[in-house]
Amino acid sequence: MAHPADRAPSAAGEAVAVADGLARHYRVRQGLFAPPAVLKALDGVSFTLQAARTLAVVGESGCGKSTLARLVTLIDKPTAGTLRIAGQDAIAPSPPVRRQLRRAVHTVFQNPYGSLNPRKTIGAIIEEPLAVNTGLGRVQRRDAVREMMAKVGLRPEHYDRYPHMFSGGQRQRIAIARSLMLRPKLVVADEPVSALDVSIQAQVLNLLKDLQQEFGLSYLFISHDLAVVRHIADEILVMYLGRGVEQGTKERIFAQPLHPYTRALLAATPGMTGNGPRRALTGELPSPLNPPKGCAFSTRCPHVAERCRIEPPAPRSIAGRLVACHEAERLADA
Ligand SMILES: Nc1ncnc2c1ncn2[C@@H]1O[C@H](COP(=O)(O)OP(=O)(O)OP(=O)(O)O)[C@@H](O)[C@H]1O
Ligand code: SF4
Ligand SMILES: [Mg+2]
Repeated sequence: MAHPADRAPSAAGEAVAVADGLARHYRVRQGLFAPPAVLKALDGVSFTLQAARTLAVVGESGCGKSTLARLVTLIDKPTAGTLRIAGQDAIAPSPPVRRQLRRAVHTVFQNPYGSLNPRKTIGAIIEEPLAVNTGLGRVQRRDAVREMMAKVGLRPEHYDRYPHMFSGGQRQRIAIARSLMLRPKLVVADEPVSALDVSIQAQVLNLLKDLQQEFGLSYLFISHDLAVVRHIADEILVMYLGRGVEQGTKERIFAQPLHPYTRALLAATPGMTGNGPRRALTGELPSPLNPPKGCAFSTRCPHVAERCRIEPPAPRSIAGRLVACHEAERLADA
């Protein structure tokens, strides 16, 4: 059946999302009589996400991953920077462009249960985007839902069941099916497998990869877990306190991480250190309300030098990726 949202998969090499200097600052009150402080949840992040590719955003809790997801899904607006999605301005789109973008970008969250109406059947839940956004009739909608259910590994008899009857992994399949009904170009997945057992994680990641191939999808894939990122990413953006610290292809970053923070994250991730011991990340994450002067990682960095505490390092290209570290050349040669 021809689906009204059917379109040619995006051409390889076409940029689906381009962000330049994206920032989101919040004014927060610290006390009844204290003046408001500025929390830089996101402080100048740039990236290009090509069609049918996966950009993984990785970093510790509070580094700004979900803030970035909210900007790319048009839920929130940046305080600075530019963002283009599918060739259109995504920051102040006209109403028709906003409608187009709402179809072009969909989201999958960590806990799909919260977004699955417990009183609706799986069929009705997956069908909803079609009912709201297309003129398809009942029978066509039902056929489209059944087709998508098969693609995500749900059985036909699941159509009339309710969300509470499913496991976490199956619920994530339901959420993925619904997110694809309008054939988006870009799926923003915010920790989509973090709540699942490791064995189920691999199944859902493989499903996401298969669907990417079939529909030519681009993923902005958010995770705190480098083991998960290794499975799915093409490109990686490592974030620390609202900024990108290292950015490049998965192969380069895993083969030779240059930023001391990327190295620390890898050393702390099980299975990433070869035969070497796993080392937990040491030192406390600074408060985003009072970040260190100079390099934000300077309070935890084993390579910190005098200059690091004064001058913030600008991102620059070294060994085929962008790195924001004063010592990166030395670390690359070491
Ligand atoms: N609406 C808001 N008002 C004020 N501060 C906020 C708001 N939303 C997020 N923040 C702050 O911005 C920073 C980034 O938060 P964000 O949720 O983007 O982090 P995250 O990387 O997604 O973390 P996690 O891994 O825990 O999900 C945090 O310090 C958070 O407390
Ligand atoms: S700039 Fe200095 S403190 Fe920051 S990561 Fe590089 S070496 Fe460490
Ligand atoms: Mg988050």
